[in-house]
Amino acid sequence: MRIGVPKEIKANEYRVALVPAGAAALVQHGHEVVIEGGAGEGSGFSDDLYLEAGATILDTAEEVWATAEMIVKVKEPIEPEWSLIREDQLLFTYFHFAASEPLTRALMESGSIAVAYETVQLSNGELPLLTPMSEVAGRLSILEGAKYLERFYGGRGLLLGGVPGVLPAHVVILGGGVVGTNAAKMAAGFGARVTLLDISLPRLRYLSDVMPANVNLLYSNRYNILEQIEQADLLIGGVLLPGKKAPSLVKREDLKRMLPGAVIVDVAVDQGGCVETIYPTTHENPIYEVDGVIHYAVANMPGAVARTSTLALTNATLPYAITLANKGWKAACLEDPALLLGLNVVHGDVTYEGVAEAFDMEFVEPEAVLSR
Ligand SMILES: NC(=O)c1ccc[n+]([C@@H]2O[C@H](COP(=O)([O-])OP(=O)(O)OC[C@H]3O[C@@H](n4cnc5c(N)ncnc54)[C@H](O)[C@@H]3O)[C@@H](O)[C@H]2O)c1
Repeated sequence: MRIGVPKEIKANEYRVALVPAGAAALVQHGHEVVIEGGAGEGSGFSDDLYLEAGATILDTAEEVWATAEMIVKVKEPIEPEWSLIREDQLLFTYFHFAASEPLTRALMESGSIAVAYETVQLSNGELPLLTPMSEVAGRLSILEGAKYLERFYGGRGLLLGGVPGVLPAHVVILGGGVVGTNAAKMAAGFGARVTLLDISLPRLRYLSDVMPANVNLLYSNRYNILEQIEQADLLIGGVLLPGKKAPSLVKREDLKRMLPGAVIVDVAVDQGGCVETIYPTTHENPIYEVDGVIHYAVANMPGAVARTSTLALTNATLPYAITLANKGWKAACLEDPALLLGLNVVHGDVTYEGVAEAFDMEFVEPEAVLSR
């Protein structure tokens, strides 16, 4: 199969969908890999590295889209790319269709096959192609929070781990999933005093087995949240109700109870955030202040560490990309129920229920399109 990797053109997107090692693996499986010149530069991978891996470099995105049977990307195609998508072309990338009807319609009209990273789902409910980005964002939330605790940025002027004779900062984490666990490990490693709250008792039990001694675990309810935020130097938001808007756990009036110069990093901002006063910010302008509390709410945090994020993402996506290329999308989806759940739009039909529901469109069972 001919696999194409265009350069990402969405603003501030420096990731690339395939690293040279991935290109080499696909070539080893007998596939042809074409990469748009400069596609890997934002993540530190030069064209020469792809050439050494056996890929071909093409000058323009048009050439990549025009010749590849499967396109592998990071972000959803944006409007200038829509006219390049060809009938029967297989697209494997993040789409987040439910957030954009125009994108959904564009893919329906293209007659292509869209397999979305974000809906590939294992039988235990895990989303294996979202997990690596939550790992990155969880760890990064502590680094960003530590920075904005500095006095210069309006923070409390605290060093996360303290020093001998001076108490460490108190980090409160809402949600003990992938983001929360990675944030807790990072904060604990810096020597902070950490309290993590979750509503899932099985999850809290698991975390009590694996977390270091400076991480305390607490059941999440309104009473405990209020008690904790009063003492928090850094508050991390990492809750998720799958497919829904994040619950608003910290209300506007609660900010008055927080310490002046405390920092909130609401990682869940991409699902509306779990702090009422949160709105999405950008890497150029990441913070703002409400009632003396610093708010950080960058919606695409992994972009700040593009090389790590690219490697983490492609570690997870490559095995699926190889399967799709080796077997073709129909056989691959027939054999792997996780990949079948990734099918969102096929030859004009919407095959993912949540997307059909979002836009009141007809839902076609993915199994039905496999037998066509
Ligand atoms: N901003 C970014 O760049 C970025 C990057 C990656 C992920 N995210 C977002 O971070 C959020 C968390 O992702 P995740 O992968 O950790 O999800 P996850 O499903 O692994 O974890 C969510 C956790 O929240 C808990 N929870 C639900 N309701 C709660 C409540 N009321 N109080 C306390 N805990 C509660 C759940 O029990 C679960 O353990 C998501 O919205 C995700 O999209 C954002």
